[in-house]
Amino acid sequence: MEPPVTLRPLQLADLGRVDQLLREPQVARWWTSDTTAERELERFRRRLVEPAETATRMYAVELGGTLVGWCQWYRWQDYPSEAAAVGAGRGEVGADYAVGDPGAIARGVGTRMVAALVSEIWRHEPLAGLLVAPQAANTASRRVLEKNGFLLVEVRPVSTEPHNRPMAIYRLGPPPAS
Ligand SMILES: CC(C)(COP(=O)(O)OP(=O)(O)OC[C@H]1O[C@@H](n2cnc3c(N)ncnc32)[C@H](O)[C@@H]1OP(=O)(O)O)[C@@H](O)C(=O)NCCC(=O)NCCS
Repeated sequence: MEPPVTLRPLQLADLGRVDQLLREPQVARWWTSDTTAERELERFRRRLVEPAETATRMYAVELGGTLVGWCQWYRWQDYPSEAAAVGAGRGEVGADYAVGDPGAIARGVGTRMVAALVSEIWRHEPLAGLLVAPQAANTASRRVLEKNGFLLVEVRPVSTEPHNRPMAIYRLGPPPAS
């Protein structure tokens, strides 16, 4: 049986491992193509050192208790320029994620991570819709969204991105009323 995929709040002590995962080619290709691992790590570090100053919540992704990736979510309204450019609606939430451990990729971990992240977001924001926009060429990222019920809305460049490559904009509605 596959070990469980779980999320827990990311901690400063995790950043050494996250640094390694960020530099794995399959992550670097998408996550640091327009920046550097050092800059990203510094952004992560600042969020963890000053949690009150950040609108982004970060999590370690564990497979059977081993850190294999990370993910994060935020309210688009806390990033108004980006929200306007991507077309985020009132109250919508955005998310980003990575599975970096080469032994963990392409075996369903990313799909289960996104399911866990959606549950976590709805625990905090029960009425929120989600809007997530990977690069259109990022097939694996698109598939993990599609396999979790996200629907493709639009494919186009987004002016606040540091590049002009098309983004695939996906939405998942608020949770069904129980
Ligand atoms: C996106 C990511 C989290 C997917 O994680 P994963 O654990 O490999 O995903 P899964 O095993 O759940 O696979 C999901 C789907 O993606 C497909 N897939 C996985 N790796 C792929 C690749 N390199 N190219 C094309 N498709 C791929 C799988 O075949 C599966 O689709 P299928 O069911 O139609 O066969 C992982 O590839 C990753 O971290 N990528 C780098 C960071 C990134 O792109 N983050 C997203 C930025 S928005």
